[in-house]
Amino acid sequence: MQKESIGRLDTNSELRKKILPLCRLEKGEIWEDSVSGHKVGVLDATLYEDVTKIMGDEKANLSINDPPYNVRVGNKETDNLFRISLNKYMEFSRKWVKNTVDVLGKDAHFYVWLGADQNAGFQPLPDFILMMRDFEQLKSRSLITMRNQRGYGTQKNWMAVRQELLYYTKGNPTFSVVYTDIPKILRGYYKKVNGIITENMERSKSNNIRASNVWVDIQQVFYRMEENVPGAYAQKPMKSIERIIRSSSNEKELIVDFFSHSGTTLLAAEILNRKCYTFDIAPIFAELTIRRLEYFRKTGKLGWQFKNPFPEIQIPVSTGKDKYSETGKENLIAQPTLFG
Ligand SMILES: C[S@@+](CC[C@H](N)C(=O)[O-])C[C@H]1O[C@@H](n2cnc3c(N)ncnc32)[C@H](O)[C@@H]1O
Repeated sequence: MQKESIGRLDTNSELRKKILPLCRLEKGEIWEDSVSGHKVGVLDATLYEDVTKIMGDEKANLSINDPPYNVRVGNKETDNLFRISLNKYMEFSRKWVKNTVDVLGKDAHFYVWLGADQNAGFQPLPDFILMMRDFEQLKSRSLITMRNQRGYGTQKNWMAVRQELLYYTKGNPTFSVVYTDIPKILRGYYKKVNGIITENMERSKSNNIRASNVWVDIQQVFYRMEENVPGAYAQKPMKSIERIIRSSSNEKELIVDFFSHSGTTLLAAEILNRKCYTFDIAPIFAELTIRRLEYFRKTGKLGWQFKNPFPEIQIPVSTGKDKYSETGKENLIAQPTLFG
């Protein structure tokens, strides 16, 4: 059985020391893509000057953000995925949301992935939702739930498989209906349209089911999938980001994501012919983001699957036990081994 090449980078300081010299960006720096005009930075979403540094005078049509959720990931707390007091977390959230809203255009979409810690009063989801009411330019639109395939929990509780995605709009942006790959099977549902009785299938614009605010058809990323980025423990499925981009932006428009990590938003923007400005506070994740785009352009692949994204160095293979299993990738790797 093949194994993924690296485990969580945020918990492995030895590995980070080896990879840091390979990172082309330092704190405060920005890489500009000469092909499609994307930008990737090592910046802090809570700092107004950092956000304006990457944006200049430009405004975004769509923002997709996936901040740390304030839950202990795989029982480990790190600088990248932290668990702080709820008050501190809300201070952090208010700052990055304000900075993001400031760079949205007149008519724009705002998405944020979030979680609810069932062992801690379901924080921070309800607190975040209440805080969002203070942003009067934003209008609440939908609370989407994506179903993970693997969950966590004990025999004494319901298995936890949900991922929340809050959707807001500013102004009056256009929204396009998107369809899933699930074929429509509901027949025999009649309705009168313009005086004529029609059957459900006749009325359909598509043979497939329309994407709703419950997503059960998206495979969670794990190391056997091509899109897997070894070392990134909180990667969102490409399909979920593509769905957001297709519904809430047009070609050539500008998308921002201020918590880049494995660079999923950037890559989806590239594939769908949009421009993306993205950054991460950690140079290693900014580097992974740039490398993922370059690797895609070279090979047509969405990720490295289980292969090493840093072939310059030998990297010990993770057991996978430290993978982010609550909101991202699955813990499916059985045996440790060495990757050359
Ligand atoms: C949940 S991950 C994002 C996953 C991403 N959507 C993907 O598909 O790969 C959160 C990321 O936010 C970064 N981060 C944490 N605090 C930050 C901050 N203040 N500014 C920018 N990035 C930050 C972390 O380093 C981590 O890589």
